[in-house]
Amino acid sequence: MELGSVKSFLKGKTILVTGATGFLGKIFVEKILRDQPDVKKLYILLRASNPCSATERMHNEIIGKYLFKVLREKLGGDFGSFISDKVVAVAGDVSSENLGIKDEKLRKEMLEGIDIVLHSAASTKFDERFDVAMGTNTFGAFNVVNFAKSCTKVEILLYVSTGSL
Ligand SMILES: NC(=O)c1ccc[n+]([C@@H]2O[C@H](COP(=O)([O-])OP(=O)(O)OC[C@H]3O[C@@H](n4cnc5c(N)ncnc54)[C@H](OP(=O)(O)O)[C@@H]3O)[C@@H](O)[C@H]2O)c1
Repeated sequence: MELGSVKSFLKGKTILVTGATGFLGKIFVEKILRDQPDVKKLYILLRASNPCSATERMHNEIIGKYLFKVLREKLGGDFGSFISDKVVAVAGDVSSENLGIKDEKLRKEMLEGIDIVLHSAASTKFDERFDVAMGTNTFGAFNVVNFAKSCTKVEILLYVSTGSL
């Protein structure tokens, strides 16, 4: 795919991103919002106990980072409303069934709206406890695949990993 056609493909799309506080996920989120501001929505799944702390994590660990300087400068005073309009922080955990999304209304909205799933959440520690590594990297991928299969109109599941499914 040419870069131009990727951009036009992303127009109006709704994307679920896991691992967005991580090295790769954060760059993906910034790149999408800067290059294709006409993306419909990004759902960002973060480990958090409730929606407020998910939103707080999103601002502190993703949107508030220096990486977003170019987009912030480009949009000026509209940056905050652009982010609130396009980005939704979702409290969850990939190691849990239904990605740990407890809010049923939100989960239904996601299942009906998502076109693309980017799964980059992982434990990247080489000395991680075995059960935690299994839960995140093996069952996490399994749960994301099941979630994507339940999405009524999903077109792409992109799994970023050093391993394979
Ligand atoms: N970085 C590279 O150069 C590179 C190269 C090739 C492949 N990869 C692969 O790409 C993937 C992402 O790498 P990365 O460097 O971005 O990793 P990273 O910086 O370690 O980020 C991992 C992300 O996964 C999230 N996460 C961990 N456990 C989770 C769970 N149970 N539920 C939800 N989210 C969870 C972390 O969230 P928290 O903030 O909550 O911990 C964080 O956002 C990995 O599979 C890695 O092996 C990376």
